[in-house]
Amino acid sequence: MTEFAPAKINLALHAVGQRADGYHLLDSIVTFTADADDATAGAPAGDRLGFTLSKKDAFSISGRFGEGLSPDPDAAQQNLVLKARDILRIALDAKGIAAPPVAIHLQKNLPIASGIGGGSADAAATLRGLLRLWDAQISEPELSALALSLGADVPMCLKSRPLAARGIGEDITMLDTMPSFAIVLGNPLRGVSTPDIFRRLTTKNNPAIPALTGDWQADLSALRNDLEPPARSLVSEIGELSELIAAEGAWLARMSGSGATYFGLFETSAKAVNAANDLQSKRPDWYFTAARTIGAK
Ligand code: C5P
Repeated sequence: MTEFAPAKINLALHAVGQRADGYHLLDSIVTFTADADDATAGAPAGDRLGFTLSKKDAFSISGRFGEGLSPDPDAAQQNLVLKARDILRIALDAKGIAAPPVAIHLQKNLPIASGIGGGSADAAATLRGLLRLWDAQISEPELSALALSLGADVPMCLKSRPLAARGIGEDITMLDTMPSFAIVLGNPLRGVSTPDIFRRLTTKNNPAIPALTGDWQADLSALRNDLEPPARSLVSEIGELSELIAAEGAWLARMSGSGATYFGLFETSAKAVNAANDLQSKRPDWYFTAARTIGAK
């Protein structure tokens, strides 16, 4: 059994305040890449996970960016896939629901620490996949709480459909009219530490996102990503990346999450594919992919 773990794209991200515990209050419009079968060029725009019942628990990793991760359960930074497996099993055990040993394989196609939620998407896909594999049921609020305990972006990644996220990311409203967009993702393959970016952020006087009119091009163009200035000051390549993507004719070019991934939205898939190919030839050492985002329906 397999699960797709799509890239998460913050089409807009306004940082509007800070909680007493240091976490930032956000107002974000988020979408996700559609399954790789719909991808239109370049590397797959999402990770893929496989789940098989097994004699004992196992975890393996492959894929273009797999080498940046350790499958070792005792690694200093335990993979979020294993954390997700373990907390779900504990929650099911408490209900007397069987959660037998499982071999999990992660095909890591998304760059690590890149602002498109790869680790969070993997954790969410693990929760979804294991519930299916184990034929287990758990209430929506309990599942959301488990997801949030893994990271602020994991609840939204459970949805993997267009949404607005507020709070620290857990207060979710589905955006039922957002269409599918043709998108190009670009990353200079320099990992960005999310806490580093948030530490450099000031939220003073940042306005929340105003009511959306339904004209997505106009609405999104009027918004921003407040994490972009601190990310640009930390990762010099973001300036060049943004100019390259804008020069391809994107109607919107913006950074996602805490970066460094930059995205461009294009009028057609053909234009996005051409742009991704052109960008890749200009910067063979960077990551580019063209894909479709998932539509609301
Ligand atoms: O929840 P997660 O582990 O993904 O967050 C990583 C870090 O990003 C947090 O430790 C915090 O420094 C920062 N963060 C934040 N506000 C958010 C989400 C993340 O300050 N809403």
